[in-house]
Amino acid sequence: MSGLEGVVAAQTILSEVDGLAGRLIIRGHALDQLAGRWTFEQVVGLLLDGFFPDMPEDVSGALGAARVRVFAQVAGLDAVLAARPPVEAVRALMARLPDGDDLETALNLIAAPAVFTAAVLRAAGGEAPIAPDAALSHAPDTLRMMRGSAPSAGEAAALDTYLVTVCDHGLNASTFAARVVASTQAGLGSAVLAGISALKGPLHGGAPGPVIDMLDAIGEPQNARPWLEAALDRGERLMGFGHRIYRVRDPRADALKTAVRLLGRDSEGAAGRIAFAEAVEQAALAILRERKPDRPLETNVEFYTALLLEALGFAPSAFTCVFAMGRTAGWVAHAREQTAGGKLIRPQSLYVGPAPKAAA
Ligand code: ACO
Repeated sequence: MSGLEGVVAAQTILSEVDGLAGRLIIRGHALDQLAGRWTFEQVVGLLLDGFFPDMPEDVSGALGAARVRVFAQVAGLDAVLAARPPVEAVRALMARLPDGDDLETALNLIAAPAVFTAAVLRAAGGEAPIAPDAALSHAPDTLRMMRGSAPSAGEAAALDTYLVTVCDHGLNASTFAARVVASTQAGLGSAVLAGISALKGPLHGGAPGPVIDMLDAIGEPQNARPWLEAALDRGERLMGFGHRIYRVRDPRADALKTAVRLLGRDSEGAAGRIAFAEAVEQAALAILRERKPDRPLETNVEFYTALLLEALGFAPSAFTCVFAMGRTAGWVAHAREQTAGGKLIRPQSLYVGPAPKAAA
C-alpha cells in the first residue's frame, strides 16, 4: 500500500508509461516520434483534442492570444511576491486567473506559466516585464519575454523539445493531484494549482535545481565518485536518478540528452559542461549499481532537464516553473478527462489509531 505503488487509479487515453520497456506513449505516439519533431502547440492540440467543442485545428493563434490575456495578471507581481521562490510566485499569479471549464480557461492556464515565469525572473533581476508577442510560437516567445531579445533558432527548438518531452506522463503525483481536484468539479484552474503544488517537491519536479547544485559541488570529474559515495553514506539520494515506474532508462532522459548535445554543438563551454555531466552520470550509475544491486536505478528526466534549462539561461530556482510550462497541458487534459468520467475520487483509509476509551 505504501505510495499506492502498482494501484491503477484511472483509465486514460492520454499517455502510457511502460516502465519495463522504457517507453512513453502520448495519445498513440511514441515520445521519440514527437520530441524534436512536433511543436509544443501541435502537442497541446493532440492532448486537448476532443475535450472542447470549440477547439481550433491549430491552437497556435489561440495560445498566443492567451499569453497576451494572462499578461494582465503580471501587474499583481509586487515586491513581496517577487521575493518568494519563483515557483511560489508563479503559483500565486496562476491563482489570480479566473477558474472555469471552458477552452479559454484551458489555454489561459497552459499559456500562463511561461508568461509568469519570464516576468518573475525579470522582477528578480530588477527588470520590467516584457509583454508577449502573440504572433510568435510559444517557446521562442517565452525566451524572448525572459531575456528581452530573440533567441537563436536552436535555443527555441531546444525549449520546444523540452516542453513536448514533459507534457504528459501517466498518473504521476502532480497529475493524480490534478485529477483528484478535477473530480470534485472545482474547475481547471483549481486542478492545475493542485498539480503545480505537487510538482514543486524535490521527489517530483523539484529535482533539477538540486542536480545543478550537485554538479557544482562535484566540480571536477575526478571528484565524482568520492562526492557521490559520501552523499550516499549520509543517507542522501542522488538527484536525477531513480523512478517509481521506470526500471530501465527514462526515455525522456535520452530525448533531452539529444537536445542538449545539439545545443552544445556550437559552444565549447556547453560541450565541456555536457562532457562533465556525462562523467558524473556514469559514476552515479556505477555506484548505484554497486550499492543497490536489487533496485535498478537509472537516469531520470530531471538530470538532462537541468543541463538543458541551464544552457538556455534559466535560473535553477525556476526549473520547476519551466517543467510546469509543459506539464500544464497534460494536467488540463487529464482534468477534462476526469470530469467527463464524472466520478468523485474518494478512496478509504485504514484506521490504525487508538480505540475510544470506554466510558467510566
Ligand atoms: N539515490 C539513491 N538511492 C535511491 C534513489 C536515488 N536517487 N532513488 C531511490 N533510491 C533507493 C532508496 O533509498 C530505496 O532504498 P532502500 O530500499 O534501501 O531504502 C530504494 O532505492 C527504493 O526507493 P523508493 O523511495 O521506495 O522508490 P520510489 O519508487 O518511491 O522512488 C523517486 C522514486 C522518489 C523518484 C526516487 O528514485 C528519488 O528520490 N530520486 C531522487 C529524486 C529525483 O530525481 N526526483 C525526480 C523524479 S522524476 C520526476 O518526478 C519528474
